[in-house]
Amino acid sequence: MSANANRQILLAEKPTGKLMPDHFRMVEGAIPEPKDGEVLLRVRYISLDAANRAWMQGATYRSAVEANSVMAGGGLAEVVATKSPRLAVGDIVFCDTGWQDYAAVPGKHLTKLPKLEPTTHLLSIYGVAGLTAYFGLLDIGKPKTGDTVVVSAAAGSVGSIVGQIAKIKGCRVVGIAGGKEKCDWLTSELGFDAAVDYKDGALFKALKAAAPDGIDVYFDNVGGDILEACLPQMKNHGRIACCGAVSQYDGAPSPHGPRGLPGLIVVKRLIMQGFIVTDFMDRRDQAIADLLSWVSSGRLKVQEDIIDGLENTPRALIGLLAGENRGKRMVKV
Ligand SMILES: NC(=O)c1ccc[n+]([C@@H]2O[C@H](COP(=O)([O-])OP(=O)(O)OC[C@H]3O[C@@H](n4cnc5c(N)ncnc54)[C@H](OP(=O)(O)O)[C@@H]3O)[C@@H](O)[C@H]2O)c1
Repeated sequence: MSANANRQILLAEKPTGKLMPDHFRMVEGAIPEPKDGEVLLRVRYISLDAANRAWMQGATYRSAVEANSVMAGGGLAEVVATKSPRLAVGDIVFCDTGWQDYAAVPGKHLTKLPKLEPTTHLLSIYGVAGLTAYFGLLDIGKPKTGDTVVVSAAAGSVGSIVGQIAKIKGCRVVGIAGGKEKCDWLTSELGFDAAVDYKDGALFKALKAAAPDGIDVYFDNVGGDILEACLPQMKNHGRIACCGAVSQYDGAPSPHGPRGLPGLIVVKRLIMQGFIVTDFMDRRDQAIADLLSWVSSGRLKVQEDIIDGLENTPRALIGLLAGENRGKRMVKV
């Protein structure tokens, strides 16, 4: 690339089936000039999130990503020029930078992040993933000591933190993940009590064996068949924290929704509640303080999966949807 170029990855075409590399296109443009009130950001790390794919399907908690626009995505970025009194050159911020080298954005909604090492922790444990796990589990799942907590996409960025926080809170933790290697990692490295490989074919039975007394809290990252397998195994007065539905993002929706709704909700007096992490931002400082103390005391392990090079971002997202990642996946730009 030339020194004055801004590489951008566009969503060239909206996928109707599985996301493929040729749904994206890389272009080179000029580095934008910040206007009054704006800052120029040099993107350092792009966050890869399952939700990136959901945004291509239509409006969610944000507007849909449209064809021929820069692919949306959160980024950890450094201020390299400023026309905003709120930020100085060298400050680090997190915002929707999109998949590109540089972005000019209004300074008024940005918050300067603390300098910490490694910086990538601002995207993983102290970023959206950590906060989603923290608030989704503690505020929506409301686990009590001795509860059985089940989490799906358990080896992913949110799930791996959910399970560890549940252990810290004195729960029995069962993770659901794809493949034996991931399951072994959950129990041997992250301290989960049991792990179930949903690709092994006998999910319902395996879950029953891993949680023989039933499930108090199910942290649902995936929806679909896994939600359907968990529902009848919930204990009376159990809680289901609906965090996401990654099984539904990449391709045609399943022909039926999870069976057992709403009957099982009634009979078992379940609470099933969705949430979006931004609902809890007024309590972010408390969450960060707890997460920091657990990480520094060694009770919470941070797993990051860093891919090099902006040009590899489409493949990194496709791989995440296929389950390549362990922990928080991001691209170093
Ligand atoms: N509510 C909120 O505010 C909020 C905020 C952030 C994220 N989220 C949600 O949290 C969930 C996790 O997102 P993430 O970005 O952290 O991704 P992630 O868990 O790091 O990666 C996605 C994982 O999903 C699993 N997966 C893919 N297809 C699946 C399927 N059909 N069935 C079961 N598992 C499947 C894969 O692992 P396996 O190898 O185990 O299949 C993959 O590694 C998503 O649903 C996302 O939308 C919600």
